[in-house]
Amino acid sequence: MQTKAKEVTQKHEDYHHIDRPIAILGAGNMGSALMKGIINAKLTPPKKIIACDVNPVKLQALASEWKVRTTLDIKEAVKESDILLLCVKPQTLTKVLELMKESIRPNHLVISIVAGMRIAFIQQMLGTNLGIVRTMPNIAATVDEGAAAVAFGKHVTVEQQKIAKSIFEAVGEVVVVTEDQLDAVTGLSGSGPAYIYMVIEALIDGGVKMGLARDISTKLAIQTVLGSAKLAKSSGLHPAILRDQVTTPGGTTINAIHELESHGLRSMLIDAVATATRRSEELSKLMNNL
Ligand SMILES: NC(=O)c1ccc[n+]([C@@H]2O[C@H](COP(=O)([O-])OP(=O)(O)OC[C@H]3O[C@@H](n4cnc5c(N)ncnc54)[C@H](OP(=O)(O)O)[C@@H]3O)[C@@H](O)[C@H]2O)c1
Repeated sequence: MQTKAKEVTQKHEDYHHIDRPIAILGAGNMGSALMKGIINAKLTPPKKIIACDVNPVKLQALASEWKVRTTLDIKEAVKESDILLLCVKPQTLTKVLELMKESIRPNHLVISIVAGMRIAFIQQMLGTNLGIVRTMPNIAATVDEGAAAVAFGKHVTVEQQKIAKSIFEAVGEVVVVTEDQLDAVTGLSGSGPAYIYMVIEALIDGGVKMGLARDISTKLAIQTVLGSAKLAKSSGLHPAILRDQVTTPGGTTINAIHELESHGLRSMLIDAVATATRRSEELSKLMNNL
């Protein structure tokens, strides 16, 4: 436990301190998760964070729990911040960019988590020399175990790159990719939690089929996925080596592996990522009118 606390403290010490006003535009699931991450990692103090949303009840709750400033007015949020985190739904983005337009400054950093909306689209709406970062986080950011990829527009400075990475590092792991790789990121880690929930659900049912009570089976299935991921991450070993380490000749695991191979588990998951990637490309083309 102490080691864990030490790790967290060390991680926070490694962050790039921002200490500049940040506006969260759209304080929903992802926007509020990023806001909490920024505060917990002490990247910038709560009084320099402005949460902006259309829902006053949500804003009131965030202000009382996190001591952040709030507003219903996008223009005010933009005017009073240096860093703008775009966390609204794709269908709302054009309207929000329209409202942002008149208050935008050349030195603003715009970080978008909006799925499918390209840097060129945001640039066209807000200004061509603006620093724009496009990202694809995932829902696990809400429990500080997110997997995010960031892609930098050509006007993003080195300082702005550090700021953007720090925000997502505060809620999980971050990789840097080119913008055209974000569709594959969407297919893998953006949509990925849904695939893993299906795996968990099926493992639970397997346990129940073999006579375990549902609550016991649920606890074992979830912890098996969590523990396996943790071991893969902390050991740095290839998953095939870890699998071989728990596979006794003639034992139970090799029999189960044979069953999984004959049903094509690995091919299925590879195909799932590829199909989701292609769908992300299609949706992105539609959204950006390409
Ligand atoms: N959730 C994920 O797993 C995930 C993963 C990767 C990327 N993303 C991206 O993250 C973005 C946000 O997703 P989310 O799941 O956090 O959605 P969400 O919970 O619906 O959050 C969006 C928030 O924006 C608010 N909003 C709507 N119109 C607004 C306006 N004009 N000005 C300011 N705020 C406004 C919404 O309020 P109301 O609810 O009252 O409309 C809501 O609180 C999406 O673009 C999505 O593509 C999400």
